[in-house]
Amino acid sequence: MSNQTIEQITEPLPKEQQISQLHFARSHTTDDYITEADLLARINSSPFGETTKDWAQRSAQVESLGNVGWGLFSTPPIIQRAEGSLLYDTDDKEYIDLISGFSVSGFGNNYQPITEAICKQAQTLTHFFDFPHPKRIHLAERLAKLSGIDGKARVLFGTTGSDAIESAVKAARHYTGKPYVLVAKGDYHGATSGTIALTSRKGMNANYFPGSSDAYVGFFGFPHEYRAGLKNFGGFGLESIDELEHSLKGTFSPYADGNGNLVAAILVEPFQSSSGYYIPPRSYLKNLRRICDEHNILLILDEVQTGLGRTGKIWGFEHSEVRPDIIAVSKTLGGGLPLSAVIASAQIFEAWNPTAHINTQAGNAIACAAAHVVLDTLTAPGFLDDVNRRGDRFVSGLQKIAAKHPSLGYIDHTGIYIGLEFVLDPVLKTPAPDLVSEIRASALSDGLFLDHGGYYGNRIPLIPALNMPNEIIDRALFKLEKHIGLAEEKFGI
Ligand SMILES: Cc1ncc(COP(=O)(O)O)c(C=O)c1O
Repeated sequence: MSNQTIEQITEPLPKEQQISQLHFARSHTTDDYITEADLLARINSSPFGETTKDWAQRSAQVESLGNVGWGLFSTPPIIQRAEGSLLYDTDDKEYIDLISGFSVSGFGNNYQPITEAICKQAQTLTHFFDFPHPKRIHLAERLAKLSGIDGKARVLFGTTGSDAIESAVKAARHYTGKPYVLVAKGDYHGATSGTIALTSRKGMNANYFPGSSDAYVGFFGFPHEYRAGLKNFGGFGLESIDELEHSLKGTFSPYADGNGNLVAAILVEPFQSSSGYYIPPRSYLKNLRRICDEHNILLILDEVQTGLGRTGKIWGFEHSEVRPDIIAVSKTLGGGLPLSAVIASAQIFEAWNPTAHINTQAGNAIACAAAHVVLDTLTAPGFLDDVNRRGDRFVSGLQKIAAKHPSLGYIDHTGIYIGLEFVLDPVLKTPAPDLVSEIRASALSDGLFLDHGGYYGNRIPLIPALNMPNEIIDRALFKLEKHIGLAEEKFGI
């Protein structure tokens, strides 16, 4: 890969530098790429059984090498069955799942009420193009009501998170007639051609056309308290909102012409998930809402990962007491099946004529049936209290671990949304990415499935199923502590 730093490649490129981005994107050589042979070597030294290694080899020979599994792990385990939060590979080795498909499996696997609804719906209507059907219409009614959007809301269905984000941005630009979308640095909003320009997590936007500035995307800093003010680790300044405001008001604003600002929407994740489960100060969304109101800009909140219970409330934005104009939701919504929705202030979708947007896979009837169970469960009395109790159980265990293990420098948590930051030195907060790699690799061989993240590669987000049983939480904590301890020993901490 390139030797650019994260700061360099997440900065918006001024127009005049477009040519260098063009040069950068076209200057790859085959040396930059991981090859099939590299993956086969990784598989050989992986801790898996023979059958799993065999399947991994077949995957390496036929699937795209850009698959996330090879980025998340040296070799991804090949899972063939699951029971709730327990996954079993093709050698029947068990793993505790603390990733939950980045929340796609928000209720784990094979959650019986969802499975039953899927089987029942499959016997009546599988799918009917992108047309309304009773399950979908009723789901739209429920989502509109649940959204908390001021006034009347309307819903557009889709299939994936990226597709919801693309639709939200398309609708916002059409409604306002303005081109720019401003996004927080480090946010992840998808990896399709339409969303990649919005996704600066780890500079993912750097190598694709149109580049962010060509796609009328601008960035502002994401605030996080732990590293705010630490000049040696930039990118988290709490002053980022002031900078955003200045960029809208300034005489030489890149986002304005003589007739006012050119910004259709500010699009953010309420909490920054794929970057490492970072929770910003509560004032973050309040300030963005105020700025949007003052400048006549729409606020789009990407609740694809924070939405539907993970933060202990239905929506992540509820913690800041703001109301967005548009919400994008997916993942947990489909109960494991592909489904997404954009919920917007009615007038935004009323500015569209029939056929303005088509997705022949949208609002699949089986996925809608699953989504009804998801909403039934989330809104059942006491369910979110239970989610919060499970989150507290995790966090009290983690605090005990942190008291014994200095490398666990910081814990972000709300509900069952938990981000762990690992450091070599708790005072200097020196990031510990190699320690995190060690913890994750040894946990994987011991049957604990952990995500990784962090602006410095030094975070472990915990993404358990919302309904993970206490017994599995305790087993997960036990294993986590064991592997933090082993890694600290190895690194002399
Ligand atoms: C916040 C957020 N937005 C959008 C997406 C894109 O969703 P999908 O992978 O379903 O396209 C993701 C996926 O991880 C996400 O976390």
